[in-house]
Amino acid sequence: MLILGISAYYHDSAACIVKDGRIIVAVEEERFSRIKHDNNFPYKAIDFCLKYAATTINEIDYAIYYEKPLLKFERILETFVETWPFSLTPFLKGIPEWLDYKIKIEATIKKLGFKKQIFFIPHHLSHAAACFYPSPFGKAAILTIDGVGEWQTTGLWKGEGNSIIPLKLLNFPDSLGLLYSTFTAHLGFKVNEDEYKLMGLAAYGKPMFVNKIHSIVNIKDDGSFKLNLKYLGFREGFSMYNKRFEELFGKARKPEEKITKRHADLASSIQQITEEIYFKTLNHLYSITKTDKLCLNGGVALNALANGKIYERTPFKKVYVFGAAGDSGAAIGSALYTHYVILSEGSESKNLAKRNKITNHYFGSEYSNEQIEPILKKYKLKYKKFKTEDELINKTAKLLSQGKIVGWFQGRSEFGPRALGNRSILCKPNPRNMKTKTNIIKRREQFRPFAGSILQEKVDEYFEVPEKNLWSPFMTFCFKVKKNKIKELAAIVHSDGTCRVQTVNQKNGLYYRLVKQFYSITGTPCILNTSFNLKGEPIVETPSQAIEDFFKTKIDYLVMGNFLVKRGLLNN
Ligand SMILES: [Fe+2]
Repeated sequence: MLILGISAYYHDSAACIVKDGRIIVAVEEERFSRIKHDNNFPYKAIDFCLKYAATTINEIDYAIYYEKPLLKFERILETFVETWPFSLTPFLKGIPEWLDYKIKIEATIKKLGFKKQIFFIPHHLSHAAACFYPSPFGKAAILTIDGVGEWQTTGLWKGEGNSIIPLKLLNFPDSLGLLYSTFTAHLGFKVNEDEYKLMGLAAYGKPMFVNKIHSIVNIKDDGSFKLNLKYLGFREGFSMYNKRFEELFGKARKPEEKITKRHADLASSIQQITEEIYFKTLNHLYSITKTDKLCLNGGVALNALANGKIYERTPFKKVYVFGAAGDSGAAIGSALYTHYVILSEGSESKNLAKRNKITNHYFGSEYSNEQIEPILKKYKLKYKKFKTEDELINKTAKLLSQGKIVGWFQGRSEFGPRALGNRSILCKPNPRNMKTKTNIIKRREQFRPFAGSILQEKVDEYFEVPEKNLWSPFMTFCFKVKKNKIKELAAIVHSDGTCRVQTVNQKNGLYYRLVKQFYSITGTPCILNTSFNLKGEPIVETPSQAIEDFFKTKIDYLVMGNFLVKRGLLNN
């Protein structure tokens, strides 16, 4: 049974193929189109998925779309009527696009040559399925929280066996994701793209604006809330904020304007409000589910800073955050929901279909040494070929220990926003100036922190984690660095003393072996890991893209498959 899952038209379009409940392949459109967060219909991603799975569109049994377009259209129409006449211009501008594509998803999928049944799974149910089915839990509380799906902005659920039961839903326009994005826009960053920059900036500020934010959002004890729409512009569609918002919080920052203390204070304040809503909601969810296992998903669940505090601020003891928590991951969720629920309907095996835990996100393309070598030759690069993986690991770990910055391209690419050691730029986590160097290479703002990949068995020695041997494979949690390790991890400790953590174990293959070898040379079981891309670009997917970035930057070495390329030994 082959299921094609699709997400599109909001942000992070993606496609995946699920075979008998297992994800065979999943990839975001941006990796091929090279448009970051590409929201177009994922033709290229679908094409790649079919090729990777060695199948054709005719052999796909079901195509699944990650939301219900007509319900979404209903919300847009209703909002238009309520905000008339202010929303007329953006509505008229957007309507042809809707008529041409968005309410004709079915026709678009059929145009691919697909003739069988198409299912449309509600957006938040797709998010719930994406985090529950791959989790290690038979029973769990589920929170889905994002900007908006059709109507829903927050969902409280219970997962049990293969069932996902809705408990409570919060609707548009009361949206934590949209509130956070309003501050993203006001601070001169890109909505649906730069929210994590606010999260990084928050550490430099003080929550001076919390009271003022409380005046535009009324938060109840159960975490539900009402936004004061007088201050917000996203319903009308012109801008996320309006004049009243600027009167309350100060003038909006222009994208290239210097970042000041006020901007950091605003970021810190919205982070604090986000955490207040998050933890009140989670505590309420615990009180109605009485399970200490939690699955989290939706764009807001990418807030790793808040996620790291769940263990202290709520009774949850085990937390699984799906690595691709944004809308690309909902393509996987919609396909899994179809497998576990819709296709099991009426069958005796309902609730018995075996679940498949997801332990890594390496679902994209891969290139053999035989494919990589001609590409290196095409670019006229001098390279060294390692005979064995041991040689490759030893040499790379040695280079890292000497302070070299390495572009690391191995195995299948990662699905979701984080590079998890297959399309990464790596360096040692100390001294502090490794951070500056790497930020310059990536052309990023200096305030932005880096994540660390640490041997799972060592995580509790370096970070304030809730348990020994904590499993945090997708970089979805920030934890405090232990005081006696701050110097050793100086390049990855953020100014609030935290670090976004990826634990690595044998499931990470070559990357685990690399961190282990680095540990045996330096005594530090952790390396700085950042995505292999430059500011504003999607992560590299192919060897050619990796080489292009290598040319554009001052990365010292490129290690791709069994090949090592050194800067300065280029022929051109
Ligand atoms: Fe979403």
